[in-house]
Amino acid sequence: MYLESLAITNFRNFATANLSPSKTLNIIFGANGSGKTSLIESIYCLGFGRSFRSGTYRQLIRHEQDSFIVFARVIDQSGQRHQVGYQRDVAGDVQLRINHAKEKRFSALARMVPIQLMTPESIELVIGGPRVRRQYVDWGVFHVEHSFYNDWVGFSKLLKQRNSLLKLKRFRTEHEYWDQQFATYGERIHQHRQQYVDGFVSVLTDRLREFLPNYEFEFQLKSGWDKDLSLGDALEKHREQDIRYGHSTVGPHKAELRILANGEEVKNLLSRGQLKLLVAALKLVQGEYLQHKTGVQCIYLVDDITAELDSESQSKFCDALVASQSQVFVSAIEGDRVLSFFNSQDTKMFHVEHGTVKEK
Ligand SMILES: Nc1ncnc2c1ncn2[C@@H]1O[C@H](COP(=O)(O)OP(=O)(O)OP(=O)(O)O)[C@@H](O)[C@H]1O
Ligand SMILES: [Mg+2]
Repeated sequence: MYLESLAITNFRNFATANLSPSKTLNIIFGANGSGKTSLIESIYCLGFGRSFRSGTYRQLIRHEQDSFIVFARVIDQSGQRHQVGYQRDVAGDVQLRINHAKEKRFSALARMVPIQLMTPESIELVIGGPRVRRQYVDWGVFHVEHSFYNDWVGFSKLLKQRNSLLKLKRFRTEHEYWDQQFATYGERIHQHRQQYVDGFVSVLTDRLREFLPNYEFEFQLKSGWDKDLSLGDALEKHREQDIRYGHSTVGPHKAELRILANGEEVKNLLSRGQLKLLVAALKLVQGEYLQHKTGVQCIYLVDDITAELDSESQSKFCDALVASQSQVFVSAIEGDRVLSFFNSQDTKMFHVEHGTVKEK
């Protein structure tokens, strides 16, 4: 899929902006503080409902305005056009529209607009805690295996309920019912993740052989509970501990995707540039795998493409982006310099200046 048009209103420093992006490469360039990241962020919001930058929703709304709107025309894999809209006001109220109809669930929008983002901070994916890698895996499972979402929503509710109950005396008498449900949903979530990772790892390892040929990578998905136990048995084993801590210490919410290079934790071995290339591979391949499994192409957003990669790494990454034949938005201060990294036809350049954007 790709965005045929994008219209934003009162988003960050943009009063209004309208773009008709290229189906392939789009270069967003301009000086510091002009609005490049904000433009990328507005597209990201369509696929995630939130920003990738820290802060509150209110900060996305242009100063002294009541709400922002991001509206896009999306062409899906069968060539059909859809209109999607996302509006959020200062009180936090959200309005979603798909083809003019009101939509309650954000997941419906997210499914239509799969997005992979790379920013200089994306390195968190490989040096940060397990949560970011869980989210990474879950993005893939969500888009590839549609039944995952209901299991995930069901499990999240159960986790909340169980955590509240653990603080109450009643838990000792009621645990059987809760733990059984928790185990059923939890095991299913792990199975979805395992299936996804099993399918995905060989594609990823191939890409990494090309990106970082001096290392042998290994990916291990940890379920979030004792390896040799069912989740039901693990819950029983850890019950007293859970009651003591007042929260569930085992389950798929504790899962982890370990990434090893030559048998070592990548964050202890690779340089920052190499870690960034690893992240680039993780993001690229997740998009490729989605296309392989479902025929759906994702949009790649790359903020500040020149940061930290040497020219060889940059060209590997840029070539792979072009080869994906997906829609790509990259931002940089100097547009022409970035253009020279890509061997792409049908490129569009957008100059951003003080919250306005013009096609060049
Ligand atoms: N809610 C808001 N309303 C108005 N302006 C805002 C709001 N939030 C941020 N800004 C301003 O928007 C401007 C654009 O920020 P943005 O991060 O998009 O710039 P950029 O082009 O990516 O810059 P850099 O090259 O430094 O990364 C900043 O000057 C910022 O102060
Ligand atoms: Mg920026």
